[in-house]
Amino acid sequence: MSVTAVIGSQWGDEAKGKMVDILSQNAHIVARFNGGDNAGHTVVNQYGTFKLRLTPNGFYNSDTICIIGPGVVINLNTLISEIESIQAKGIQLDNRLWVSPRCNVIMPWHPMLESIYEKAKGKSQTGTTRRGIGPTYADKVSYNGIRLFDFRDEYILKEKIQTQLSVKNPIFREFGLKPLEPDRCLAEKIQQYQILAEFVRESFGLLQESLAAGKNILLEGAQGALLDNIWGTYPFCTASVPLAGGAAAGLGIPPGKITRVIGVAKAYTTRVGGGPMPTELFDEASEILQQQGHEFGTVTGRPRRCGWFDADLVQFTSQLNGVDELALTKLDVLDTFESIKIGVGYRSDQKSSSLSHYWEGDAHWLESCKPEYIEVPGWKQSTRNVKNFADLPVEAQDYIRKIEELVGVKVGFVSVGPDRDETIMV
Ligand code: IMP
Repeated sequence: MSVTAVIGSQWGDEAKGKMVDILSQNAHIVARFNGGDNAGHTVVNQYGTFKLRLTPNGFYNSDTICIIGPGVVINLNTLISEIESIQAKGIQLDNRLWVSPRCNVIMPWHPMLESIYEKAKGKSQTGTTRRGIGPTYADKVSYNGIRLFDFRDEYILKEKIQTQLSVKNPIFREFGLKPLEPDRCLAEKIQQYQILAEFVRESFGLLQESLAAGKNILLEGAQGALLDNIWGTYPFCTASVPLAGGAAAGLGIPPGKITRVIGVAKAYTTRVGGGPMPTELFDEASEILQQQGHEFGTVTGRPRRCGWFDADLVQFTSQLNGVDELALTKLDVLDTFESIKIGVGYRSDQKSSSLSHYWEGDAHWLESCKPEYIEVPGWKQSTRNVKNFADLPVEAQDYIRKIEELVGVKVGFVSVGPDRDETIMV
């Protein structure tokens, strides 16, 4: 039996989808536990190309059950179009897709509230994906959320919509936005729910049975640990818990049952949206990373900010998640560099001789920190077709070993291209 959590070790977009794709081939269950349709990855397989934001990446293995756990927030429209696009390719989802009725639903007012807050923050805005994720989780934790459970009784749903709009519509009026009509919201959501109703069922029992039966379960994290609502660069973070610990609560499985945690990190660093990023580059190297790495957001299309690998951050997130092994992705993007830098800590106080760590301060403090680097030689040749660690250029091997040493975790996988077989098992 294995219960493996695949976690983003940076600010998201670490190419977790590819790792989940590889590992899902032996999985009985693939389960999402956090976030919503702010996540996004493209899956290419024998059935075609799929752009997924919510559906766990394992749907194309006919024996794999996909679970969207209660820690996820659902945009009903997004889920409907994903299911339709999967079914259109002849893939059966009946009895294979389980969406927990405990999931909170993103309602039409959530993106509206988000845009009001983002506008008000001006230059300090979080730079969200504008899917309404933050306000949906905010309503969830303040007992104002609407869950899929509520759709089972139209009277309950109607009452909840009316209550929420009695508070939210005055805000919209105040900010010059058109108030929402409760009856229209109700009709629209009921119609969407009817399409999804057959997939809505609690997965708790199934997961407990599967744990007892020793099945392989893959926990698919969305976003990255540095976007965590507590440990991330708050308020430049997301609203959910993208940590291994979040998988337990977000699915209803005991933490001690997670047998393996894989931290996925790019061989460099990227981030989308606002907030500090100590090793960010603004020169030609940044452009190379962006172009070679196709660093544009999947959900918003925004160019991603690029910089050198930050070992202090990945050491922190590895400790936070209890990472057993790292999957280092997109190593090939570094193929053309003469030399490569690795961030090893920060200078926050010019007088102090010791380096500071990420966890010592907040986002404001991190913004003022200067990264300290070591520089290592590049390998200046393609790694795209390399299948074994020993066949990597010696400088690339040294780069990986250096990362292991600085982070304190072994690298178990190295990805040298987007395809499944462009992966070195170390
Ligand atoms: P939200 O999750 O849409 O509220 O956005 C909050 C912050 O998290 C923003 O900086 C987003 O760019 C970032 N973010 C959210 N989801 C992802 C993701 O899947 N990959 C990378 N960044 C993300």
